[in-house]
Amino acid sequence: GVGLGGVALFTRTPSTLVLRDVPVGLDESLDTLTPFVPPLVPDPDLLLFETKVSSSPDIPNAEVLLHADCNEQEVTCEISRYTPRGLQESSDPAYFMVFLSVEGLDFSMSLILQTLSVEKHQPALIQKKLSLPLSSSGTLQTKGIFLVFSNKKSVLAPLRGDILLNCGFKQEEVPLGADVGVEWRLQHRGKGHKVLEMKKNLDDTKGTVLHGERKGSSMDAAQLASQGNVSMSLTQLKVADEGTYICTVSVGRFHAQQVIQLHIYQPPQVSLSDEKLKTSQTLSCHSRKYYPLDAQMQWFYLSPSDSKEQLFPDQGSLSSHRQHGDGTYSLSSYLTVVNHPVLDSPVDVIIVVESPQLDSYWFVLGFLIITVLFFYQVIK
Ligand SMILES: *[C@@H]1O[C@H](CO)[C@@H](O)[C@H](O)[C@H]1NC(C)=O
Repeated sequence: GVGLGGVALFTRTPSTLVLRDVPVGLDESLDTLTPFVPPLVPDPDLLLFETKVSSSPDIPNAEVLLHADCNEQEVTCEISRYTPRGLQESSDPAYFMVFLSVEGLDFSMSLILQTLSVEKHQPALIQKKLSLPLSSSGTLQTKGIFLVFSNKKSVLAPLRGDILLNCGFKQEEVPLGADVGVEWRLQHRGKGHKVLEMKKNLDDTKGTVLHGERKGSSMDAAQLASQGNVSMSLTQLKVADEGTYICTVSVGRFHAQQVIQLHIYQPPQVSLSDEKLKTSQTLSCHSRKYYPLDAQMQWFYLSPSDSKEQLFPDQGSLSSHRQHGDGTYSLSSYLTVVNHPVLDSPVDVIIVVESPQLDSYWFVLGFLIITVLFFYQVIK
């Protein structure tokens, strides 16, 4: 990566993360899975991280990783050096932060790995980039000690509705510390603020909310202690609640986070100014109080000959967006329906309108179908 003025901030190197003992479904044969085979001759240039999933803490939903590749779901994995609070950068053991997520699946986690000591019976090969001793098979042996996960990367919720933003943590059986700190932040359009913060001693029954900025935000202290569930619930959602939520969990010297996008939506209330057209006139279609802004209005009509829906050739004019106090928008479209194309003067229209047979034509036209295409902002 390159920062301001072309200064290299960090470099990326291809590496491999080997997760051993991933649980396999009951109906699945081990023969269908390709095991990882380390290179015959250990290579000090290669970066091979190896960790056991079954050793505590277990990785929730790790089985989705088994077939992600075959199912063409992109797996994102980033590993970086991690320094626990209060420790030296070159501490022994060494720590790494793994960010792992699978596209299209609700699987995302940040996992902290700790290196395991290498059997001392022979001089170990040293990994060149990290200067860390490798196992006899040329891998960096690690164990997961702390992870923060979320089963949803992006959620869509209706305005004035309620939502639970999912976040959980797991730690080694040997507790890393009895005090757990949870912080939920909201980041939106370059601005950020703390939404909710809780501290909890795991031996204690109660959690202490240190900070609750938003009315209607809450976290369950009992679930935090019993299941490591630090999901935050938000009630009466407002447009201002939209944005990127960051769930940070700290235990002892360790902390990790997960990011969840919250999108708010509100479908429009659509109405026409008139149900029937009597004479040449301007029809208005109002689309009220919707969110987000991306909206498009189109006029369609039912062709009298075959009752097929067709795009009306004249798309009229659009008002500008109006924004309401609650952040929703309104938009109107105006269409002037002059007369029937086969009639050559407006005078005929009046006659036509009053003729009973053609009334049905106007009735059809009066049924101009308004379709408001309401595009949700696509979730990344
Ligand atoms: C937390 O608890 C809620 C139900 O209370 C559940 O829906 C959610 O999946 C749990 N999340 C985690 C991360 O355990």
